[in-house]
Amino acid sequence: MRRRDLMKGGLAIAAQAVLPMASAGAAPQTKIPYGSAVRGDALVDDPDYRAALIEHCNLVVPEGGLKWDTVRPSEDRFEFYEGDKLLAFADQNDMKMRGHTLIWYASMPDWTSSIRGKSATEKALGKHIDTVVGHYKGKLPSWDVINEAIAEKPTKSDYLRPSLWLDNMGKTYIDTAFRRAAAADPSAQLVINEYDIECVDARSKARREALLRVVRDLRDRDAPVHAVGFQGHLKGQLEIDKEGVSSFVAELKAMDVDVLVTELDVIDNLLPADETLRDEAIAGRVTDLLQAVFDVAPPTAILTWGISDKYTWVPMYFTRDDGSLNRPLPLDRNYKVKPLMQVIDRFAGRS
Ligand code: XIL
Repeated sequence: MRRRDLMKGGLAIAAQAVLPMASAGAAPQTKIPYGSAVRGDALVDDPDYRAALIEHCNLVVPEGGLKWDTVRPSEDRFEFYEGDKLLAFADQNDMKMRGHTLIWYASMPDWTSSIRGKSATEKALGKHIDTVVGHYKGKLPSWDVINEAIAEKPTKSDYLRPSLWLDNMGKTYIDTAFRRAAAADPSAQLVINEYDIECVDARSKARREALLRVVRDLRDRDAPVHAVGFQGHLKGQLEIDKEGVSSFVAELKAMDVDVLVTELDVIDNLLPADETLRDEAIAGRVTDLLQAVFDVAPPTAILTWGISDKYTWVPMYFTRDDGSLNRPLPLDRNYKVKPLMQVIDRFAGRS
């Protein structure tokens, strides 16, 4: 039996999925969808990669297939080949697909650098969201609407990341994006997605507080933000701020805002070289993060940013001084299950 078949009853990725509260320390009584980011080239070229996704995942998200630099080769063209290919794979294998990402500062095609002024920027934002979310209306249960809106090192007065969107529209670009996405697909869970909000360092705390401020503002204006995505690109050397994460989730739930884990991996460049020790440390960080979330409320989904160490973005920025390969994901380069997969299975209610 495929590991993911242990999860019966379909997937409840609803805007306001109400799941039984997991008691502190226990894994949930219900099943949580688990999935992975997917690379379009490997999906076609690597049968073992496809088999691993089918074996373990109920959910997929394109790693790059729905970003502007793939979807928008020019101002007047929309290219859905990659997104449609992954959606077809998901449909064929009884999986759901979520969307990533509508509005981000990065992966923007060159032509967008000529967009100037509030009205042209709002027009570009609206046209993109209307067309892309409209194309997948009713087919994608969840979207990352806004990705990485918080400044790298936020302060009280300066907490949003400069971008084409902020510079030309001001902070209302965030409201506008959520409202356009809700109009384009009222059934979709609409997510604001952020990284480096999980750990004990002062910067993570400041980023968490800034994100909470953004969400509170949005909810005060009745903007349709349904959930916060913990990207979960955990720095392995940093402790999870379990209390801080739990109180953050509690504040969100008090505003009727759910959480999900959207891009989980553990950046292991500063962890021990020994693979057994490293894998255990990685599993421990993820256990701490998921427990801190589940102690308040189960996430509506858990996704890793890839399923095998064979295909990971981590070495793009975090190579190890000892030259050994990174091991950030649930399966090793030969698709062998690691402790991290067992942690996910436990919290996803599959073991
Ligand atoms: C990354 C991809 O994994 C890389 O392949 C690509 O070159 C750059 O983008 N946060 C995000 C993701 O929201 O979209 C990023 O994905 C990783 C950081």
